[in-house]
Amino acid sequence: MSTTTDALLTIDDLRVVFGGRHAPRLTALDGVELRLAPGESLGLVGETGCGKTMTGLSVLRLLPPGAKVSTGSIRFEGEDLLRMPERRMRRLRGSRVTMIFQNPASAFNPVFTIGWQIDRVMSQHLDLDRRGRRERLAEVLGEVGLPDVDRIAAAYPHQLSGGMLQRAMIAMALVNRPSLVIADEPTTALDATIAAQILALLRRLQDEHGFGVLFITHNLPAVRQLCDRVAVLYAGRVIETAPTAELFAAAQHPYTRGLLASAPSVASRGSRLAAIEGSVPPDPGAVIGCSFAPRCPLAFDECRRVRPPAVPITPTHESACLLALEPDTARASA
Ligand SMILES: Nc1ncnc2c1ncn2[C@@H]1O[C@H](COP(=O)(O)OP(=O)(O)OP(=O)(O)O)[C@@H](O)[C@H]1O
Ligand SMILES: [Mg+2]
Repeated sequence: MSTTTDALLTIDDLRVVFGGRHAPRLTALDGVELRLAPGESLGLVGETGCGKTMTGLSVLRLLPPGAKVSTGSIRFEGEDLLRMPERRMRRLRGSRVTMIFQNPASAFNPVFTIGWQIDRVMSQHLDLDRRGRRERLAEVLGEVGLPDVDRIAAAYPHQLSGGMLQRAMIAMALVNRPSLVIADEPTTALDATIAAQILALLRRLQDEHGFGVLFITHNLPAVRQLCDRVAVLYAGRVIETAPTAELFAAAQHPYTRGLLASAPSVASRGSRLAAIEGSVPPDPGAVIGCSFAPRCPLAFDECRRVRPPAVPITPTHESACLLALEPDTARASA
């Protein structure tokens, strides 16, 4: 083991760029900072295009072609992932860090049975003989609510319903007992009842097994159900982070407030949703000052000149807004 640390995952000043040299350069992540404690579940929220998926893929070092990390560090269980040899990285993926996607059909190969595919993930990482793997398969399928092991194991992906396939994908993600699960919109493709069941399942499994979760989503009520803490991403930066209850009760950043006001709730279902005018800047790297300033109802001159640093509101709550820095001075200079 290298250096010891209390954090499970620490992302510092992570910048990811697309293009360069022959294609126009575009900044997707513009200095992301994140901490995840062991066993913690962190919600990563924000509008479409703000960099949630790029953050998750950076951790796994699975960025799409054309994208690369330009600076920053990602430490996982005390090791620097960006410097890890690819061979070790491959061992880590699927064992210590795993991923759950929106579309379970894409996680499975349609021409092999579910049992075969989960067995393969196990045999690549676990030191178990066939019988041991069979027992582990039965155990993990039971844990995700698929107790009819023989039928599920013999099924091809298209033979299962969406909800069952999602459970099978969770089984595959958990079979090697990871310490971090990255879940990118895991319930978006499911209907509301099934989605709620899957979230409850994830929460229960997390409580039982103590793995950390990076939960990437648009769905704020789901964050409330699943997450201990929330990080709000805007234009490739974390602009506010707080324990879940505190974020929902006392968001500081005007973007977070807008996002919360736009979130559908039972009360507002069917009625017109409050929304934030405008859209995320296409290239956050090109923005001087606060990237939310062009849309911010509270912006003042200084906001268009200065990148707001992350300011502690409480020991566990930070906001990257000049109004959080010194509300009175900031307003006075407006
Ligand atoms: N293939 C690509 N080529 C160029 N730029 C890309 C590509 N994929 C993503 N980007 C850039 O990265 C930014 C962040 O994308 P990302 O997919 O992480 O957003 P997201 O927050 O996951 O959005 P969504 O909620 O829609 O899934 C995008 O706004 C876009 O500028
Ligand atoms: Mg995404």
